[in-house]
Amino acid sequence: MKLEIELAPRHKSGLLLRNPVIMASGTFGYGVEYARSAELHRLGALVCSGVTLHAHAGAAQPLILETSSGLLSAFDRPSPGVRKVLKSYAETWAAWPTPVIVNLAGTSSDDFAELAARLDGAPGVAALELNLACPDLASDGAPFGSHPAAVTRLIAAVRQESVLPIIAKLAPFAGDLLSIALAAASAGVDALSLIHALPGLSIDLSARRPALNGGLSGPAIKPLALRALYDVARELRPAYPHVPLIGGGGISNARDALEFLMAGASAVQVGTITFVNPRAGVEIITGIESFMQREGIADLAEIIGAALPI
Ligand SMILES: Cc1cc2nc3c(=O)[nH]c(=O)nc-3n(C[C@H](O)[C@H](O)[C@H](O)COP(=O)(O)O)c2cc1C
Repeated sequence: MKLEIELAPRHKSGLLLRNPVIMASGTFGYGVEYARSAELHRLGALVCSGVTLHAHAGAAQPLILETSSGLLSAFDRPSPGVRKVLKSYAETWAAWPTPVIVNLAGTSSDDFAELAARLDGAPGVAALELNLACPDLASDGAPFGSHPAAVTRLIAAVRQESVLPIIAKLAPFAGDLLSIALAAASAGVDALSLIHALPGLSIDLSARRPALNGGLSGPAIKPLALRALYDVARELRPAYPHVPLIGGGGISNARDALEFLMAGASAVQVGTITFVNPRAGVEIITGIESFMQREGIADLAEIIGAALPI
């Protein structure tokens, strides 16, 4: 049975995953925290928590609140800064058989470019994922992913500083998702990941003010995320068949993951469910394998995009 998937088919070194299950940024730390509980060697890849150029405190607590069927979490998250991240984890990552993708967070394209330069050639870094939900403070403060021109500029700036494969992570709430996806693909990203958490709010009744103004993730957003992936896949596949899509948002079990694959994702990201079950990623891989066995599917490629119109 073949579960291998190439996520950067046009890139000279590529980004080959042993299977399509990727742990999502911000929900799996730097991987080391899960080394004992999650059978890292079985995962397709993991994306580390967002890394900023300098140490960054992030929003005030609460950073996470539980909601019905999901989590509300702050978009502005703490990071020790790229130097400390590399010093603490790069050697460990380099010894793992599982690729580690570094998620970049910045507030200007210069930030992203500088981060890319620092990570270029670092041991244990397999690819970069650009968090397009970050606000572009050098411009109008809206997320990079709101304006096709900002996306194009950002990708060009990062490409100039790094030979690593680049994944653009789309912010579904900012601008027209299809035109942003097309802009990123035409700017030459190796792959796209979607979707990020959706905007949500919780009010503190005693203080009579917002308790957390952040992103909603988990099972609550799955149908929305699946629809977004399907719509982008329909639009992108004819023009950019070489830009794989990484689907995510609320994936909690193998059935959810298979839905995203059939909707056109070449790989999936598993996030919030990890807080409930750190082994969710591995269990999803096993579930995909069982489905393939049951259905007589020899190669995962047979089901990728199977639900898309011909
Ligand atoms: C606590 C938490 C922290 C997150 N941190 C990041 C981050 O640093 N960078 C990023 O691009 N996405 C981040 N995300 C978004 C997730 O990677 C994922 O795209 C989103 O939660 C949807 O998937 P899920 O419903 O499976 O969690 C975070 C999500 C959560 C819940």
